[in-house]
Amino acid sequence: MSGARFRRLLLALVAGALGLASGGAALALGTAPQTLMNPAGPQGLELYKAMIFDIKGIILLWVILAFLLLYVVVRFSDRSHGKELPPQVEGNRNLEIGWSLALIAGLVIFLVHPVKAEFVFENPPEDPNAVEVKVTGHQFWWEVEYPQYGIKTANEIVIPAGTVVLVKTTATDVIHSLGVPRLGGKNDSMPGRVTKIWWKADQPGVYQGQCMQLCGQSHARMYFRVVAKTRDEFDAWVKAMQNPVVKAEGAAAKGQDVFMQKCAACHTIGGTSAAGTVGPNLTNLGLRTSIGGGIRENTPESLTQWIRDPQSLKPGALMPGAEKPAANGYPATAVTQEEVDALVAFLEGLK
Ligand code: CUA
Repeated sequence: MSGARFRRLLLALVAGALGLASGGAALALGTAPQTLMNPAGPQGLELYKAMIFDIKGIILLWVILAFLLLYVVVRFSDRSHGKELPPQVEGNRNLEIGWSLALIAGLVIFLVHPVKAEFVFENPPEDPNAVEVKVTGHQFWWEVEYPQYGIKTANEIVIPAGTVVLVKTTATDVIHSLGVPRLGGKNDSMPGRVTKIWWKADQPGVYQGQCMQLCGQSHARMYFRVVAKTRDEFDAWVKAMQNPVVKAEGAAAKGQDVFMQKCAACHTIGGTSAAGTVGPNLTNLGLRTSIGGGIRENTPESLTQWIRDPQSLKPGALMPGAEKPAANGYPATAVTQEEVDALVAFLEGLK
């Protein structure tokens, strides 16, 4: 084998290996937390079916076109070397009608799934136990309200699995977008408007969501979680949210004092007199799996970092840190490390 030929073969092998590797990576992504490839509800399933149909259709079209092209190149190559013109088909009415109809038919075929998905999205199934949730986007966190139960929380939308959840969404500042890929779809959250979406989680589990509309500096860090529980667990959670118990002893009691002085103007905690509405409602914070608008798991360490320096986790956040002001210039809270420790003990004990 000549050197040049060998190099070409090598190049082809490397290109093939890269293609296989990228295909493998795409498949591996199918198990990632935010994915359309692993639907967990009826809407996610519709989107998944539409996507798979499109992918299969496009592959089929590509194969047909590639073979046609190959056939034409081989069969009709110019053997006269430019001395004869091939037959001219310009203005051939049958051909023009033919490929116009073929195009329209193709478009209609590719529209079947999206139109069906649209109907599924627009028409939630009747469910006497349906749960209503109102979700409001803020830079960069989500306010969550359950009008039926009179409870408010933030950044984690607890729902019962197997039940229709009717979501209304809006925003206070700029346009955000509420998207949970595994449950399907996303919906813009717009100031001054209320838009609707519905979810139904087939199984209990945690479904990662994210703001899907560019909304500012920490748009990409504006996460949330949909936590689907069994109906019994959900009912117990509703009860716990309706009757929050604040047991603050020792360090936590000191933390509660600090909270009332430094934090209560912005945050509400059910069971205390803290009733601020600028920042997220922190009722039963100890029950949540994440903090800081889904940016970290809910651990004392991450909560400590969040209280000390929220900008380090979420640049542009409107919460001031212990030493640094908030992004809008709101002055630092000036809490000492000892006070931060007490605050963490207090907040983590809220459950
Ligand atoms: Cu909110 Cu992007």
